Amino acid sequence: MKTILVPGGAGYIGSHTVLDLIKKGFNPIIVDDFSNSSKKVITILEELSGEKINFYEMDIKNKEGLRKIFRENKIDAVINFAGFKAVGESVEKPLMYYENNLFGMITLLEVMKEFNVKNIVFSSSATVYGVSEKVPFVETDPMGEVTNPYGRTKVIIEHILMDLAKSDNTWNIIALRYFNPLGAHESGRIGEDPNGIPNNLSPYITQVAVGKLDYVRVFGDDYETKDGTGVRDYIHVLDLALGHIKAIKKFEDSKAVRIYNLGTGEGYSVLDMIKNFEEVTGKKIKYVVTPRRSGDIAECYADSTKAKEELGWEAKYGIREMCEDSWRWQLNNPNGYED
Ligand code: UFG
Repeated sequence: MKTILVPGGAGYIGSHTVLDLIKKGFNPIIVDDFSNSSKKVITILEELSGEKINFYEMDIKNKEGLRKIFRENKIDAVINFAGFKAVGESVEKPLMYYENNLFGMITLLEVMKEFNVKNIVFSSSATVYGVSEKVPFVETDPMGEVTNPYGRTKVIIEHILMDLAKSDNTWNIIALRYFNPLGAHESGRIGEDPNGIPNNLSPYITQVAVGKLDYVRVFGDDYETKDGTGVRDYIHVLDLALGHIKAIKKFEDSKAVRIYNLGTGEGYSVLDMIKNFEEVTGKKIKYVVTPRRSGDIAECYADSTKAKEELGWEAKYGIREMCEDSWRWQLNNPNGYED
């Protein structure tokens, strides 16, 4: 396992994983159409790693283009980060989400099969557990009732992967169910760069702290949680990146389909997060409590014992480091990659 194709490698989690792959001696090849990422990431990755980054500017739904990449490179495995990920946008544009996320994955799998490259890591999400109230979530829990098209694409792709493995036992498949990523590389040069007003809590808070937004809207303070606000399992993007390296190494074991939660197992409330960011930024972060956001659950956190036992993976970063690193990125790049 040496040469790893990384669709979506210029995105938030993808770029951090590419950097870690290089550090661990792998040869990543990025495929990205930069529809939701910046081309500047490539140059920054080259500067941070001191290596030339191999990349193709292409949509993975371009089957002929993908074939060309597989012909030109001896690819051992694929980590697929390419996919749209904004929950709200997926509700407004369901066809765009189904088309992009599902066709992208199916095209990729078809070409991998043609070239007999059958090792794939897929970016899944804790969202597949749906609106269940039973925490912590364990991989053996059933996939639940998912409330939006984005989440459904994750559920459908997990089913596609399981069906594929059933039909042909030479596939080696790992789905990683991420909990709530935040943080950034310690250089502060790559990080999360959401389009427009952020959906997610952490970039929203840092944009308030930097003065781009006025206040945080706390979506509900009447949940059955310690302070009434929603509780989530926040995980440092560098811990997530490491999970992918461990997954690639697992491919050397027997062929199988495997699913792992990647979370810390710790839950933090919205108010906890605001407090942590206030301490890290030294700024007062204004917030206003608003009604609940539809589709949200009270608590979501992981049991990641399986990843620890089978992959030897465990989250190392604490909440303070996550907030510090998110803040460094935001402060250095108030407009993301735009400057
Ligand atoms: N929240 C606010 N105000 C905001 C944004 C969020 O109060 O402006 C609250 C939410 O109600 C929730 C918590 O902060 O309690 C976290 O919300 P996020 O939108 O940051 O994250 P979610 O847990 O809703 O969803 C995230 C990703 C999904 C992924 C899911 C997996 O956005 O892609 O985690 O658990 F599927």
